[in-house]
Amino acid sequence: MSAPLTCLAYAKINLYLDVLNQRRDGYHNLESIFQSVSLADELRFEPRDSRLTLECAHPELPCDASNLVLQAAELFRERTGCPRGAHIVLLKRIPMAAGLAGGSADAAATLTALNRLWEIYLPVSRLLELALDIGSDVPYCLMGGAKAGRLRGQDLFSIYPPASLWYVLVHPPVKVRTRDVFTNPLMECNTQRPFAGWTRAFRSARRAFESGDMAGAVFNRLEHVVFGLHPELAEIKNRLLSAGCVAAAMSGSGPTVFGVCTSYEQAEAAARSFSDYPTSVTCPTRVGVNIPD
Ligand code: C5P
Repeated sequence: MSAPLTCLAYAKINLYLDVLNQRRDGYHNLESIFQSVSLADELRFEPRDSRLTLECAHPELPCDASNLVLQAAELFRERTGCPRGAHIVLLKRIPMAAGLAGGSADAAATLTALNRLWEIYLPVSRLLELALDIGSDVPYCLMGGAKAGRLRGQDLFSIYPPASLWYVLVHPPVKVRTRDVFTNPLMECNTQRPFAGWTRAFRSARRAFESGDMAGAVFNRLEHVVFGLHPELAEIKNRLLSAGCVAAAMSGSGPTVFGVCTSYEQAEAAARSFSDYPTSVTCPTRVGVNIPD
């Protein structure tokens, strides 16, 4: 039997997030710049004969079939016909329901790790198909790095990140339901028509990102609605800017708010100015899932 594997599943932030038209399946088409960051869950995969079990010490995370890790593992077995099992131990460090795609990152790590543990070796293109059946963010989490994403966020293109940025994440204890944000009457979509795949607003943000103009790149269309419901998030964004961050925004549908810093020292200082909320000082990563040797 193969040896156990340990795997890091990185959080993502949306440096840019715009909402276009609503689709026939009820979801909205998005345009986003995703970036994976060094805040990570850790998963250990131990081979077993046939059973699939999950263990996690986090009191708020169920280890039953509702967990995306077990859903990913079951889907992988179903689609590959692999009869093998695993015991999976999840160490949760990414805050949950925070706009950081922690659950999606765990699912992406599970697909990557089981593909190796069970010696199936599906190509990445097949893993990406499985990933989308689990959730909109899972394909990105499988890839990680700096990516432009469109449609539900699964149509991904590599873009070139500026050098040496740091991201401070502020984690307020606020609950936001993604569905409530998208269906809020104050939600206004971008009505620009994409040409050759992307809107003018996105092209401009991407150019700004690749040239290192982060103030011109960072944007989140959902802030307007979420800040109306939770004004403390707008205050966190302002405090990050006052602390010297070159840009700041909410990630996903929140509640995490991030600030962009040009050095580790600046990021540490910005984080220290928040004694009232948990913070994480992170750097960008090139991959979404990492299996260290
Ligand atoms: O992705 P998730 O299933 O968590 O999204 C929850 C809800 O948010 C969806 O049911 C939909 O109402 C809304 N949503 C959307 N367009 C997206 C993502 C989410 O309308 N691209």
